[in-house]
Amino acid sequence: MAKIYVTRNIPEVGLNMLKEKGHELFINPKDRILTKKELIKELGRQSYDGVLCLLTDIIDKDVFEASPSVKIFSNYAVGFNNIDVAEANKKGVVVTNTSGVSSDSVAEHTVAMIMALASRIVEADKFTRKGKYVGWDPLLFLGQDLDGKKLGILGAGKIGIRAAHMLSRGLGMQVGYYDVKRNEDFEREYGAVFHSTPEELLASSDVVSIHVPLLDSTRHLINKERLSLMKKTSYIVNTSRGPVINEDDLVWALKNNIIAGAAIDVFENEPKLARGLDSLDNVILTPHIASSTIKTRNEMSTVVAQNLLDFFEGKELKNRVII
Ligand code: DGY
Repeated sequence: MAKIYVTRNIPEVGLNMLKEKGHELFINPKDRILTKKELIKELGRQSYDGVLCLLTDIIDKDVFEASPSVKIFSNYAVGFNNIDVAEANKKGVVVTNTSGVSSDSVAEHTVAMIMALASRIVEADKFTRKGKYVGWDPLLFLGQDLDGKKLGILGAGKIGIRAAHMLSRGLGMQVGYYDVKRNEDFEREYGAVFHSTPEELLASSDVVSIHVPLLDSTRHLINKERLSLMKKTSYIVNTSRGPVINEDDLVWALKNNIIAGAAIDVFENEPKLARGLDSLDNVILTPHIASSTIKTRNEMSTVVAQNLLDFFEGKELKNRVII
């Protein structure tokens, strides 16, 4: 039976699956993110066989070297930018993720953010609570209709396609997309128009929704130059990874009305916000909760455990990350 270190408590369904199979779990008792130093210290206490880690744990060469007995890091996230996968591959350490199970909840959160921007829900809520509503006004909080507007999907993976499905079928948005790979099924199903550069997509969209993974090639994909190409009336939404947007540049664009608004669930230096971001009215901020529904977080727990079970039972791994 394997000894598994769990870097922070997660929904118990997956932990129970592991316990039922007789694996020994060591769960970090502190309900907070461990620093890298603390994690290395914890992993040095025993010869663990596997680690169940979170997107907030930096798993790099130092961690691999401090825990040579660990053969698998099962990441409780679809994103794996917190793990040096190349180094893991080199060392023969397996990395898995929770691909697929969060697509609906993240897409729904994306839709919620887009609708909140277009209908100015957050601004209007604050205004009403402050007692500023003094009577019906034909010009109060003029928003934008979404029907017929162009949705630009940046990254047409599972989540981007689900968001396009909901926004085109539900709200009548026209879909355009940029991806490193063209997807003809997506084009056929949703009439999605492929753009061969992000610039072309940004310049022609009314709402840009970001769904790319964080890679060297996507870090700061959205910067001053690219924001400047967008329509003044457009919105940008990010539920992928914070560093895909240069956050200082976004603050600049929002302050100077280069674009109409933004909604972001992920931040460049989480949990910190770029200076000035929280004082802007034309941005909606949520604390990395796009996948935070009871169903999804339970399913992530099941998948993260199943990845470990499959590994220790020598089965084929459905969610192995290889780069
Ligand atoms: C993920 O899965 O990568 C999300 O960002 C967190 O649920």
